[in-house]
Amino acid sequence: MKRLFLLVMFIFSLGIFVSANTTAAWAADSGNYEKHDQREGGGHREEKEAGGLIGWAAVAGMTAAFSIFPLRRAGKALATSFPKQKNGIKRLMRFTTKWHIPIGVSAFIFASIHGLLMYLSKEELRIREYIGISSVVLLAVATIFGFALSKNKTKQKLRQAHKALLLLTGILAIVHIVL
Ligand code: HEM
Ligand code: HEM
Repeated sequence: MKRLFLLVMFIFSLGIFVSANTTAAWAADSGNYEKHDQREGGGHREEKEAGGLIGWAAVAGMTAAFSIFPLRRAGKALATSFPKQKNGIKRLMRFTTKWHIPIGVSAFIFASIHGLLMYLSKEELRIREYIGISSVVLLAVATIFGFALSKNKTKQKLRQAHKALLLLTGILAIVHIVL
């Protein structure tokens, strides 16, 4: 629990650091808005770059959290088929279970910071942004179900709801990225 708390605090600090830096850079550049806009075709470059990177961090976190699923389903079969790698596979299975919640929570925090920075960089909401926001909202609801599930892992309905919400989150996130 202490480790989880430290990890979440670290990610929050990182988010605040990135936001503060980009805001400072933006403020320092504010005298040059018109030139800046012409150069970049609208929007603020720093927020957009940091936001893009953090968006990919959210994708990486979501993918890492998702890895619990194939490993649960096929981990044992893999360990039997590849006896030499058995220990490594078991360790990976234990790792994904132990870190699933901190990784999932980080993915949610990254997605929220990404959305905020992208909004700050463009200051407009269109279809791509609305799909992104829907995806973050579903991720937030899935996280609430995830916490409830962590308190009672035998509740199959909570597990199904967690998975269904994340499936929708993933689909919307993919549409959002390819748009
Ligand atoms: C689960 C939620 C989300 C994920 C996983 C996600 C991920 C991404 C990724 C990977 C990119 C491509 C970045 C790049 O080209 O370097 C992107 C672009 C973008 N995202 Fe998100 N995003 C999410 C939510 C949001 C939200 C809530 C907003 C805004 C309110 C938003 C606004 C944008 C915008 C405007 C772009 C295009 C940037 C450009 O013009 O290149 N995203 N997103
Ligand atoms: C993008 C993020 C996430 C993805 C893709 C994801 C995906 C999944 C999947 C597919 C399962 C089902 C595993 C199975 O039954 O075989 C699962 C289980 C679970 N998830 Fe998530 N999840 C995410 C985030 C979270 C978060 C943020 C929390 C908690 C706050 C959470 C808590 C749980 C719990 C407690 C379980 C049950 C694990 C167990 O049985 O030991 N998840 N998740």
